[in-house]
Amino acid sequence: PTKAVQVKLVLLGEAAVGKSSLVIRFVNRDFQENREPTIGGDVPLTLVHLVICDAAAFLTQKCNVDDRSIKFEIWDTAGQERFHSLAPMYYRNAQAAVVVYDVTKAASLDKAKSWVKELQRQANPNIVIALVGNKLDLVQQAEEEDEDAEEGTSTVRQVPQEEAAAYAQESGLLFFETSARTGDGVDQVFSDIAKSIPLE
Ligand code: GTP
Ligand code: MG
Repeated sequence: PTKAVQVKLVLLGEAAVGKSSLVIRFVNRDFQENREPTIGGDVPLTLVHLVICDAAAFLTQKCNVDDRSIKFEIWDTAGQERFHSLAPMYYRNAQAAVVVYDVTKAASLDKAKSWVKELQRQANPNIVIALVGNKLDLVQQAEEEDEDAEEGTSTVRQVPQEEAAAYAQESGLLFFETSARTGDGVDQVFSDIAKSIPLE
């Protein structure tokens, strides 16, 4: 068996869009209804705080696609704005980035777009970027409850799929919609990224 290729991957996106939940789903096949933020509470952002609690969680997961074995080294960053300035530590040298928004929250797509811009300016020029609209289960649930509504007219959805897909295409990003809650689409994100990583 060939040795696994290591791929450094960073997750970015507004607080509470489900970054940690996506990683936990991918790595542990699990979901928690009320997750703690990746670093939360009212602790002031001091040097001591930085030293004691890192502004990101680190996990690894292996993934076999085609004939390749890939070991993802995943940095799951904290979405709170006060941690923004630490992000370059995590995306520097990353070969892949997953930029997450919440399909039920339009403002989270704006934040995702600003992350994409920052990555395209500052990160490794060969970085593979995936745009991921999470919490799709909330849209599906609302559509089931409102049987009379036409498909795609759910009031819960704030980001139309076509709009995000068009933006992703013009920006050269992979695009997915997922639910960390049900697991829908989650493995696809990581396996498509694995296929897109350029071979050394
Ligand atoms: P920060 O660490 O603060 O940046 O947040 P995060 O992006 O890591 O979000 P997290 O995974 O902690 O999820 C925030 C909340 O949304 C939690 O209560 C999750 O249970 C919930 N959540 C995450 N993903 C989904 C999903 O796909 N569907 C639904 N319904 N809820 C979700
Ligand atoms: Mg988190």
